Amino acid sequence: MDKIVIEGGVPLKGEVKISGSKNSALPILAATLLAEGTCRIKNLPLLKDIETMLKILEFLGAKIKIRKKAVEINTESVKNIPAPYDLVRLMRGSVCILGPLLARFRKAIVSLPGGCIIGPRPIDLHLKGLEKLGAEIEIDKGYIKAKAKKLKGRRIFLGGTFGSSVLATANLMMAAALAEGETLIEFAAGEPEIVDLANFLNKMGAKVKEAGSHLLRIKGVKKLRGVSYRIIPDRVEAGTYLIAGLITRGKVSIKGAISGHLGAIIDKTEEAGAKVEIKKNSLYVENSQWPLKSVNLITLPYPGFPTDMQAQFMVLMCLSEGTSVITERVFPRRFMHIGELNRMGADIVVEENSAIVRGGRKFVGTRVMASDLRASAALVLASLAAEGKTEISRVYHLDRGYEGLVEKLTGLGAKIKRTN
Ligand code: EPZ
Repeated sequence: MDKIVIEGGVPLKGEVKISGSKNSALPILAATLLAEGTCRIKNLPLLKDIETMLKILEFLGAKIKIRKKAVEINTESVKNIPAPYDLVRLMRGSVCILGPLLARFRKAIVSLPGGCIIGPRPIDLHLKGLEKLGAEIEIDKGYIKAKAKKLKGRRIFLGGTFGSSVLATANLMMAAALAEGETLIEFAAGEPEIVDLANFLNKMGAKVKEAGSHLLRIKGVKKLRGVSYRIIPDRVEAGTYLIAGLITRGKVSIKGAISGHLGAIIDKTEEAGAKVEIKKNSLYVENSQWPLKSVNLITLPYPGFPTDMQAQFMVLMCLSEGTSVITERVFPRRFMHIGELNRMGADIVVEENSAIVRGGRKFVGTRVMASDLRASAALVLASLAAEGKTEISRVYHLDRGYEGLVEKLTGLGAKIKRTN
């Protein structure tokens, strides 16, 4: 099992290039199942989750050619066989092949995605939406079995207990793209990744309007053609490096990020006293004052503060002056990073879906264990600011969502190495 060892206390300096977005690439790769012909997807991040999605497509019969940071996918020979549990369980995001398979074959069998450590991952909204389009769905021995004589567009309310759902919106958008008539998705997710998927579908010949709003309009078409498409940069990776620059009191330029996707993150770090300069296609961050102030935070669907940045922001608040209250409104139990942060010197207590973070602490290096993608990123950030050496085990969690993490941090001057 690989480990990452970090010698903390080095202010990061220089520039880091942001990779393509994992959460945009996954539904877009699934959408290639809708194309008659070959798709060429560019700026794909080389990540475990992307590999898993490509393995699933290949298992279904897609022909895949990996080029340098691009992939050519021809799904003409795809057969409609069950997407297997041992691949689907590796990644929750694989549930977004359900919509395209149903749209293309009028039937689909996909393993239920397992839960994961950030909490139960229900898919009731996915299933409700597809049923409203005319699918009959049953759950049988851990598999979702969906079939539809035809898919007919209609108005569908997709809001759930926690508001909008990103992948349920993606699934429904992809199914509606080939449905008969117009589909209106009310309380759709408006994340940049949803807009990216809509742009890809429209380039293939779909008719998706108002992507990014909470009222998505999709006019079904007969067929979609293979196209080439470039994935947007990863806003969560960009936000993670922004925190890395702040927490090490460094001066970091984040190249290739779309600052328009980082509004809530920039707003919160500036409220804490950070200096963030937005340039055309990059972001410059430096600490104008130390310690920063503690600020309260609530995670919300986009454009609110992203739940995928909650753990990373919490690490920064441990070193800020005062106390901050961080509330999870998207995944109420997404606090598995707290145990390990407290072992490194943090003082955080959980009250329901809020964490009370006492600031003014300092991190001391020790041995910690990664547990989930963004919790592991939080441990890396704490280690970069810690006194002494930290050894992080189970780093495969990081490989799922951070391309070239060790190389990128080394490029910023961090004392980091990966051992096995
Ligand atoms: C996407 O997951 C992202 N994953 C997650 O990123 C991200 O945290 C999440 O959106 C929220 O932004 C990918 O895009 C691959 P949701 P998704 O459906 O779509 C509840 C990361 O670290 N819900 O928007 O699965 C759900 O339990 C990952 O990169 C239902 O109740 O999340 C949650 O409380 C982690 N019923 C809330 O909605 C449903 O049918 C939002 O979840 C579906 C979801």
